[in-house]
This record gives sequence, structure tokens and C-alpha cells, in this order.
Amino acid sequence: MKVFVTGGCGYIGSHTVVELLNHGDEVIVIDDFSNSKPDVLDKIQTICGKKPICYEGNVCDKVLLRSIFEKHDIDAAIDFAAFKAVGESVEQPLKYYQNNMNCLMTLCEIMQEYSCKNLVFSSSATVYGGVETMPIVEDSPLSTTNPYGTTKLWGEQVLQDLHHADPSWSIAILRYFNPIGAHVSGLIGESPNGIPNNIMPYICKVAMKELPQVNVFGNDYPTIDGTGVRDYIHVVDLAVGHIAALNAICNTQTIDVFNLGTGKGYSVLELIQTFAKVNNIDVPYTIVDRRPGDIAECYANTDKANRELHWKAEKGITEMCEDAYRFVKQSSSSTFGM
Ligand code: UFG
Repeated sequence: MKVFVTGGCGYIGSHTVVELLNHGDEVIVIDDFSNSKPDVLDKIQTICGKKPICYEGNVCDKVLLRSIFEKHDIDAAIDFAAFKAVGESVEQPLKYYQNNMNCLMTLCEIMQEYSCKNLVFSSSATVYGGVETMPIVEDSPLSTTNPYGTTKLWGEQVLQDLHHADPSWSIAILRYFNPIGAHVSGLIGESPNGIPNNIMPYICKVAMKELPQVNVFGNDYPTIDGTGVRDYIHVVDLAVGHIAALNAICNTQTIDVFNLGTGKGYSVLELIQTFAKVNNIDVPYTIVDRRPGDIAECYANTDKANRELHWKAEKGITEMCEDAYRFVKQSSSSTFGM
């Protein structure tokens, strides 16, 4: 298949491109490098022995998108192109609504023009904003607590309406839980700019002694040890889930939603302690106040994806911690020319 991957140089996008190439698909990437670097393409080449075709630009650029669809006979698209920082979305809502909604709608418009109607959409467990019953099933009530989450919820609605209007579309909506880890090669992974918001990049910076300690946001939640519990999923499992979803929905003329997680929750302290143990390194932490907006626990029921996509997350918390640390160690040694 010829697969168009928007945001294909980003964290989840690049791991998915690797799996697509390994699966024998031809991959065409578009990325504006707003949250990624072009050298990811060389890393992909090192891992797979081949590289995707890459266009630099924004998915909202209709002229560019048309020229790509004109040139390549694209069968399907996987859409990762979106901003994803929750805090930033609260401060700059227009940036999020403008980019995330327009990118999706432009992509769908051009796909429709070229009768390419197989789409996998990157959504998030954040659309289960108010759900308190765990594990979370796909038909739980939906709501959001920040503009980033709202762009995902609206994106899902756009696709439901599109499929209603034109049932010849085949669409998979994937709701990710908490992706962490990196490719086992240590070549690609997550490297956010500045001080990370998410727990794993923060733990990595503490392990690398770039930050003094992890601030654990609250230890008085009704959980195993009082700290927040999340469903961490290895990014490679998540990437493989995209291939499974694409194969399952392609040309079926259906729209369906799937949770991608492991189905198992770990607390912040369990994650920190596992990271320290498997990497044999000190990870100092301190308990601070709860972070506003956080919930006690969030983990998936993954039965539907297991059953209908024939997919199951394989990698455990140990591999997630080992692979995340290998990536940051390798990136820092290559930065300093070692
Ligand atoms: N946490 C800390 N200290 C930190 C960062 C996080 O204790 O410095 C805790 C949080 O309180 C939470 C857990 O670690 O209990 C995970 O927090 P993350 O920020 O890594 O992830 P969230 O679960 O808050 O949110 C993530 C993504 C969202 C996505 C959501 C889906 O950031 O974009 O998962 O469930 F929507």
C-alpha cells in the first residue's frame, strides 16, 4: 500500500513509519518540523534500510497537499499532524483550534478530491474527560477539559459526520492512552523542548541529571500508593496498532473507534521505581501538590482492539523504561559528539 503519514517525523509518527516500512508499505510523509527534526529521516533509514519520501510543509497547505496526491497514487492516510501540549492549549486555544481542526479538514477534503478514503486518525484517551469507571470502554461518555482534548473530540465528530454524509469512507479512530518508551535501537524517541510536561520525559531528564528531581503530583489519590495511575503503552506497540487498524478497516466503508492501551495501570511511584531499578540509576523524587485537572486513575479496556484488530500490546513497563532511557542516553552522547 502507499500510505500518506502526516506528522510522520514526530514521536508516534516516526515509530509508525518504521513499522509501515518494515511491513513493506510505501510511505509518503509530510511534516512541518514544528515539533520534530529532519534528521529523524536518517535514523529511520538506519533502522529500516530505507527512507520514506518526505515533504516539508503544513497539512493546511492545500496546494502542497494536492501536488502530493497528484504525484503519488495514495491508498490511505494516517493522520498524526497536530499540536498536543495540554497546558499550551489552555494558554493559546486559537493556535490549537486553528491548526488541529484545519489540518484534519484539509486532509479529508483533498483525500475526497482524489477518492482516497481510507483514514486512521490519531485521537486520545483525553476525550474520556469525565469518566470515573475503570477500565474505560469505547462507548463511555465523552467530554474534555482543555482545548487540545476538544480538538480531538471535534476531530472525531468531523469524521463521524463525514462518514455519515459519504459512507464510502473507511475510518479508524484510535484513542491512545499514555505512550512512552522508544525504538529499541535508541535512535528515535521522544525529545520535547524545554521542561517536559509528561512524566516519562521528565524522569529521563532527572536520570540524565538535567533536572534535580521528579515532582510527583500528589500522593493522596485513592490508588495503590496514593499517586496517579495511568495506562502506559510502549510507543512501538502503539505504532503496530496503527498498521493493524489500517489493515482491518481498509476499504470496509465503516467507521470505528478503538482504545489503544495495555489495559493495566501503573502508579507514578511504580513507574519511577521501575525506571530506577531496570536502568540501575538514581531517580530522586519529591511529593508536591496535585496538578489541577489530573484524575486518580485512567486505564483502558482493550478488548475491542484485541478482538477486532487482532492486536495486543506486547511490551511491558520494564521495556518501556529501558528503551526510553537508552534513547535519551544515545541522543545526549551524539549531541556532544561522543
Ligand atoms: N506526573 C507527575 N509529575 C510530572 C508529570 C506527571 O507526577 O512531572 C503524573 C501525573 O500527575 C499523572 C501521571 O504522572 O498522574 C501521568 O501524567 P502525564 O502528564 O505524563 O500524562 P497525562 O495522563 O496527564 O496525560 C497524557 C497526555 C495527554 C493525553 C492523556 C491521555 O499528556 O495529552 O495522557 O490519557 F490526553
